[in-house]
Amino acid sequence: MIFYYSGTGNTRYAATFIARECGDAEPRFIPEALRSLREGSIMTEALAADVGPSLGIMFPIYSWGVPPVVTAFISRLLPHIGSDIYIWAVCTCGDEAGIAMRLFSKTVERFTGKRPGLLASVIMPNDYVLLPGFDVDSEETMRRKLEAAPERLAQLSRLIAARTRGVYDVKEGSFPALRTRLTFPLFRRWGVNPKKWKTSDACISCGRCAHACPASNIIISEGRPVWGNDCYSCCACYHVCPVKAISYGCATKDKGQYFFSG
Ligand SMILES: Cc1cc2nc3c(=O)[nH]c(=O)nc-3n(C[C@H](O)[C@H](O)[C@H](O)COP(=O)(O)O)c2cc1C
Ligand code: SF4
Ligand code: SF4
Repeated sequence: MIFYYSGTGNTRYAATFIARECGDAEPRFIPEALRSLREGSIMTEALAADVGPSLGIMFPIYSWGVPPVVTAFISRLLPHIGSDIYIWAVCTCGDEAGIAMRLFSKTVERFTGKRPGLLASVIMPNDYVLLPGFDVDSEETMRRKLEAAPERLAQLSRLIAARTRGVYDVKEGSFPALRTRLTFPLFRRWGVNPKKWKTSDACISCGRCAHACPASNIIISEGRPVWGNDCYSCCACYHVCPVKAISYGCATKDKGQYFFSG
């Protein structure tokens, strides 16, 4: 079984692709599974028993690290996973993952006593727009990344289907340890201020932002989105708005939009 987290659709696409190629069931969305576990509507033991012979975890890279919602989920699930299960993990990222996947591997080892058989990254269009200097890719770069993705995912699917072990194929980038160790803790602490999300009079009350939010952090009240405090900083609400009515202070001024639509 594959569990995935995705804000703007890249990882959902990648998870669906690998599940199809490997003849796996439909991937399950980590925020929903975690909510069910917290509410007690699913017991962890029951979820773990459903996993089958192979467990895949897929997520986007956030600030050269693993999104906290993913860590929270695996911390609950992994202690209940059988020792004979093949565990693998694939991240998507705009450019580079730092040492996020090495740290992820250590977390898996802490809970299960063994490292994942395969750790890999897939380059996809960038969706991060919340800091000055960070914007979506140019049309050309987006196109190039999206064209390369199927071949990369097919290659990883073959390795996963064959339960290959000892694979570490991650684009870490330059100074990867420095980036992850310095930047990720800052992101965890200060990465997003949910109070900065705003909508303008251009809003047409379509509700797409609320529907897209993986954290269920947006309600539509009197036709307008209202943000709560549980924001994953995925930027999906900003990217899906058809009239670009959503802003995050001045950070999103003149920035582009991206949402996987393939
Ligand atoms: C908060 C945040 C931080 C990000 N940090 C990184 C990063 O450190 N390195 C990188 O290559 N891409 C980074 N990205 C880009 C995403 O990892 C990339 O676009 C990913 O494919 C998005 O996946 P999704 O569409 O499934 O949410 C970041 C995106 C967000 C929203
Ligand atoms: S409020 Fe927006 S940025 Fe925050 S989790 Fe929801 S969709 Fe993502
Ligand atoms: S997606 Fe944009 S237009 Fe639609 S409800 Fe949200 S802010 Fe309004």
